[in-house]
Amino acid sequence: ASVVQRLWRGHVSADMLSPRLQRAMKDYVSANKHHVSYKGHRRSALSAKELLCQMKAQAQLRTVDGLEEPFLSLGWAHLVPSIPLEKLFRQQDQSSFKSCAVVTSAGAILRSGLGKEIDTHDAVLRFNAAPTEGYERDVGNKTTIRIINSQILANPRHRFNTSSIYKNVTLVAWDPAPYTVNLHKWYASPDYNLFGPYMEHRKLHPDQPFYILHPSYVWRLWDVIQGNTHENIQPNPPSSGFIGILLMMALCEKVHVYEYIPSMRQTDLCHYHERYYDAACTLGAYHPLLYEKSLIQRINVGPQSDLKRKGRVTLPGFSTVNC
Ligand code: C5P
Repeated sequence: ASVVQRLWRGHVSADMLSPRLQRAMKDYVSANKHHVSYKGHRRSALSAKELLCQMKAQAQLRTVDGLEEPFLSLGWAHLVPSIPLEKLFRQQDQSSFKSCAVVTSAGAILRSGLGKEIDTHDAVLRFNAAPTEGYERDVGNKTTIRIINSQILANPRHRFNTSSIYKNVTLVAWDPAPYTVNLHKWYASPDYNLFGPYMEHRKLHPDQPFYILHPSYVWRLWDVIQGNTHENIQPNPPSSGFIGILLMMALCEKVHVYEYIPSMRQTDLCHYHERYYDAACTLGAYHPLLYEKSLIQRINVGPQSDLKRKGRVTLPGFSTVNC
């Protein structure tokens, strides 16, 4: 069976990857850039319900709130939005989003015609520099939240301050700290410098909700992936896609994810908006994508036909899971 057919069943292993991707993976394992040392268990037999309960308990949404050093001394308690992200979309203690869409940037979404369906959701999450303009038929045009990695803030190529992509939406940025989550070390040497641009943007646009994910949130998500995988996964943070899916599970009653697990339109085209081909974008080299996707397939409650035809996975929001 092909890698994608194996993903549809939720059984994956690194041997299914091409020799080039296997080598890239091994190189990341030996480089261990973020000094990951995992002490937890590795089990692979949890039921979907047990997995969901573990995610709900272990992956509690957390953003930088300015109450820890070095951010406290830098005055971040007043710089970050006054309403925490987990409260931003709540009314009378209930999630205001019944149904949400997570739209990945995979090339396979091209010619899907999913745009109308995506826009019917109460909230839509998109990633990084993925545009809607010119692609509405396939990806829709509504954007509620955009998750951006630190390269978007740091690299002038993305025109973070001027591009309309980043306006009128809630922004959630992230950058990997060392695995031990030393915030001083992180502030002194992030992967890409997001702190300066963040401070500047907050001062210029104090009314736009804009958060930075706490690095411990990112690494606790990684722990969930490793803790439920027998093989050693890449010691690098999960992809923005995985982070976004779990974020929406914390904010919505139901989450529909598009083209994360590839449909039958599967292609090596990396992004729907760029002419760049690399299977690593879908199957992973730096990020533990293959394992993330297998985990998400294990908690999919949608029919197999949605997966194949639409590349669509349906997940329960954490508020609806009774543990
Ligand atoms: O590349 P980028 O991180 O901006 O894409 C957003 C997310 O979409 C990725 O983090 C990944 O989870 C998902 N993706 C994918 N397959 C692709 C491209 C992106 O699963 N070919």
